[in-house]
Amino acid sequence: MAIRFLESTKTFILETKQTTYQMKISKYDYLLHLYYGEKIPDADLSYLIQPKDRGFSPNPYEAEYDRTFSLDVFPQEFSSDGCGDFRKPSIEVKNGDGSTAFLGKVKKYRIYSGKYSIPGLPSLFATNDDTVDTLEITLWDEASSVAVVLLYSVFEEKNIITRAVKVLNQSAHTIFLNRIMSTTLDYMESNYDFIHFAGRHTMERNLIRTPLRHGVQSIESIRGASSHQHNPFVILCDHDADEDRGDCYGFSFVYSGNFRCEIEKDQFDQTRLLFGINPRGFCYRLKSGECFDAPETVLAYSNQGFAKLSHLYHDIYRNNLCRSHFSHMERPIVINSWEAAYFDFDDDKLLNIAKESVDMGVEMFVLDDGWFGKRDSDFSGLGDWETNTTKIKRGLTEFAKEINKLGLKFGLWVEPEMVSEDSNLYRTHPEWCMHIEGRHPVRGRHQLVLDLSKKEVCDYLINTLNHILDSANIEYIKWDLNRNMTDVWSSGTDVEGQGEIYHRYMLGLYYIFDQVILTHPDILFCGCAGGGGRYDPAMLYYYPEVWCSDNTDAINRITIQYGTSFVYPINTLESHVSVCPNHQTGRTTPFDTRGTVAMDGILGYELDSTKLTAEQKALCKQQIANYKKYYRLIADGDYYRLTNPEKTKKFMAWQHVSKDKCSSLVSVVITYKESNEPQRYVKIKGLLPDQFYTIEGENGVYSGRALMKAGIPLPDIGEYESIQYHITAV
Ligand code: GLA
Repeated sequence: MAIRFLESTKTFILETKQTTYQMKISKYDYLLHLYYGEKIPDADLSYLIQPKDRGFSPNPYEAEYDRTFSLDVFPQEFSSDGCGDFRKPSIEVKNGDGSTAFLGKVKKYRIYSGKYSIPGLPSLFATNDDTVDTLEITLWDEASSVAVVLLYSVFEEKNIITRAVKVLNQSAHTIFLNRIMSTTLDYMESNYDFIHFAGRHTMERNLIRTPLRHGVQSIESIRGASSHQHNPFVILCDHDADEDRGDCYGFSFVYSGNFRCEIEKDQFDQTRLLFGINPRGFCYRLKSGECFDAPETVLAYSNQGFAKLSHLYHDIYRNNLCRSHFSHMERPIVINSWEAAYFDFDDDKLLNIAKESVDMGVEMFVLDDGWFGKRDSDFSGLGDWETNTTKIKRGLTEFAKEINKLGLKFGLWVEPEMVSEDSNLYRTHPEWCMHIEGRHPVRGRHQLVLDLSKKEVCDYLINTLNHILDSANIEYIKWDLNRNMTDVWSSGTDVEGQGEIYHRYMLGLYYIFDQVILTHPDILFCGCAGGGGRYDPAMLYYYPEVWCSDNTDAINRITIQYGTSFVYPINTLESHVSVCPNHQTGRTTPFDTRGTVAMDGILGYELDSTKLTAEQKALCKQQIANYKKYYRLIADGDYYRLTNPEKTKKFMAWQHVSKDKCSSLVSVVITYKESNEPQRYVKIKGLLPDQFYTIEGENGVYSGRALMKAGIPLPDIGEYESIQYHITAV
């Protein structure tokens, strides 16, 4: 068992192959955190807690005159609220009598084989190859009759621990949950940097690194989506941690809605990390006997820097998160109509684009926005999911057949969660959109959000979507979301239920996914939210891939993909070659470079193939052939970021290495060029030092050590040009 309880010391020991996690039932039955980090086998780490009399840190009643026992000082596994811990709490609850205290004591625990699941919410699962054990600890607040169940699953071989929390109202009264954090982790020190991934539409997931300081640092989303602005993933690491060295801890939140991560450095230089649903906009009513299930957090620890941390996340997310069998399959090469035609098309124009892409090696045509309702611009049509026969004159079924006749698969874009005011759906059901009675709703991209907290709206969408999916030979769906939530209020509940709507929306969405995505296992689903506005693990549970960003500029994309790669596997990241000057930045980059960058993910195209030169088409064909040659390496290999966009302005490089370290693909893009430059070298990673390797197209034989320690001299190529090295063990 990866989980043990030592009766003699009352210590819970959770162990993966390389990590230890310990906590202890203290005097008076409080649950104290002891340690998380590099494996310390067979140790009882209770000695780390050194009781001291600390002024203004109060003592629980049962401690009597012992002023050294304080919940304000001791590291806790789930912090109390209003009962002597003044740091940020794990829970805020309004009890039946109006009091807001929660003081949990260990009442019972249970250890079992297998992974817990969370009703209504996505979470990791165990495969037949995994050894997974679970621990449930029940904390009981005697005075309020509220129980909190802490859940831990340990993926022993994969070095991953997941956590989740349940709150049970066992009192006779209704209670209100104002905050419930899925993970609380108290460290006894604070010599850490806080890393998170911030951004904006078309420029997502830029790495931000700051040392911890006294007070609270936090990131959050209150947008009703995990957001472009902050990704629900953070790292705490040593000040000198880098790709190859240093302790680092990752926390990845499996939820697509509002979230908050708070990190508090306290008066004694200790650190508390909390991760959960954003308490802002959240107030959940629990009637007597009801239970609230909070989402999962996935924890990983690396003592060898960020590369290893990313490998841990990539491996677990590739194998234990996505339900779709496409996750393990080579994806078709897509050509998407958006940047090729936007709203301006008819079926003949699209068929020409499709026809012209066949010889390029493209395998699927994706019809993006504009095919339905009155949808000639983004002012109208959302909600009316019938084919616009002025544009798709043949109808969708016939159009898909024509595409299939060309030897291509057919894919379709939908944005089901939204409605345009100029739509039949809105005219028939104005009450189905999120709005507050008596106020004008805020518009985003001229559209409103459907209220998925209402069962009838979810059921309507399930029927509508299943009807579309069955109406033509559709083999791929791009599921989009193009605005964030405002006016969060629902006529479907009473005054006290309004604080549940953000979360009920997510439950509604996951319910729809269960009924539409999981019931169509042979359709490949791609997630999108104006690009990467909802790129989170909960989405990956349903979609094996996500359109990473609406920015297709190769140079910007390198930074976006760099940030994304810290936690999300490369085979979840859709990336397309588009035309130049680029539509988002106006930049011109060589066609080859656009291919090199898009190959760092799931390669596709987003351009009008009828306008390509013969030479460009030949290049596409070559890119696709190359990509297919390296697909398994890119999809299954270990990923190394060889440069850091903050530090290396001259070139950016990244690398895929097969698990057996016998094959590797290195990609380099020159991002800034000066005259008469010094010779530059790219030092690669992850090879066997004593193994000899060849580089395709070159004569020499090089030891892994030479390639890693001395590097490969870069040729004198121009700004924005790129080069790839395929390295193979001899
Ligand atoms: C979003 C997507 C784009 C495209 C448009 C269509 O912005 O990210 O790729 O599908 O919507 O409106």
